Amino acid sequence: MRISVIGTGYVGLVTGACLAGYGNHVTCVDVDQEKIASLNQDRVPFFEPGLEEIIKSNRTAGRLHFTTSLEEGIKGSKVCFITVGTPSDVDGSADLQYVLQVAREIGRHMEDPMVVVTKSTVPVGTADKVRSAVAEELKARGGQINFFVASNPEFLREGAAVSDFMNPDRVVIGTDSKEAEEILKELYSFLPPEKVLCMDIRSSEMTKYAANALLATKISFMNEMARICELVGADVERVRLGIGSDSRIGYAFISPGCGYGGSCFPKDVRALRHTALRHGYSPRILQAVEDVNEAQKHLIFQKVLRHFGQDISGLTFAIWGLSFKPNTSDMREASSLVLIQDLLGAGASVRVHDPKAMEEAKHILAGRNGVTFVEDQYEALKGTSALALVTEWDMYKQPDFQRIKEEMLSPVIFDGRNQYSPNEMRRLGFTYYGIGRPN
Ligand code: UGA
Repeated sequence: MRISVIGTGYVGLVTGACLAGYGNHVTCVDVDQEKIASLNQDRVPFFEPGLEEIIKSNRTAGRLHFTTSLEEGIKGSKVCFITVGTPSDVDGSADLQYVLQVAREIGRHMEDPMVVVTKSTVPVGTADKVRSAVAEELKARGGQINFFVASNPEFLREGAAVSDFMNPDRVVIGTDSKEAEEILKELYSFLPPEKVLCMDIRSSEMTKYAANALLATKISFMNEMARICELVGADVERVRLGIGSDSRIGYAFISPGCGYGGSCFPKDVRALRHTALRHGYSPRILQAVEDVNEAQKHLIFQKVLRHFGQDISGLTFAIWGLSFKPNTSDMREASSLVLIQDLLGAGASVRVHDPKAMEEAKHILAGRNGVTFVEDQYEALKGTSALALVTEWDMYKQPDFQRIKEEMLSPVIFDGRNQYSPNEMRRLGFTYYGIGRPN
């Protein structure tokens, strides 16, 4: 099938590359000339395991193309995915300007019947706006082309995006016509049919928000349990095993930590709350999920003050892990940024390390005094009063603790992701603080 994908962020690139891998003829479009130029040399502008290889093999096979021209990109397409960004507006609602701009441009250039699919996370009702935008432009140029709109939200996780696309738990397709449903079912025919869930457009749009909001809720719930565990002397890691073993609860997304980040959970929870408010309902759970998460991002700093006293000016802290989670270079809404700001604000300095996110972090923290970027994880510990583990990259999981001790001024660890055993840390002579665990 001929397919176009507009917007080459995570979702667009993974969708385009993987669909090309299934034998479709895919053209990816982006306004960013530099990005398209580098993709045309098989260079992916961010780190995502496996993606570069798929892009390279499909480009070589002639099934995957990149262009800055939407007109050229959508020529002959049976399906056109809109995968441009929907950033948060100042009030927390999703900003649809890019999605609707693309829709209008599709209307201006469409030559054949097609299904216009929103894959970006968009508020309920967006497909209707996309339909109107395409139709208006078509009408303006006197065109009479049959087109459909559809919603096909993406559930991929950064860092596991390619395997999530190839082997999803489910694919959700929202349409308002049998024709569009059949075309999209054909596109996903590489999956067992029971994995393809067809529904109306609004339910499909809502499914995406409900899924992310529930996952974020699980995390905030567990972070709240961790707070209570600390107060009553329980170990949240044991509690996690105790409750996760109940198949109704499950182990996924109940790991406590120093808060969730990324481009999705914070933005989507805010946007859904905003949608509800706009319809006159004040969602109490979503508000609590956000509040708990905001507070959780400051927790390590509070533990630092509890240990070192209120005046930490002049001290230096090591931070391991900057990205919002392992296996990505993405720094959006990362907990590390909140900790760094808190420490700098209190007059302390930081020495930071991350295997993939240093460039992005340098960009974000440019001009901030007191931040030293260190290429070696042990070098980052030199002359520091404590280590804070913020992102649980594999390379931090079994470090050389002897070496850690030697490099630091005092052996204190704040483990924001509960990666180390409190007993083992004590045995090795560290003062250890986890999240929701007895010290
Ligand atoms: C999330 C969803 O998992 C995807 O299904 C969805 O498609 C995507 O958002 C999206 O809307 O595009 P992602 O943001 O890539 O994916 O990252 P996750 O792996 O879900 O992690 C999000 C945050 O939650 C990270 O900061 C992580 O550290 C934190 N987390 C996750 C916890 O604190 N505890 C957990 O148990 C799990």
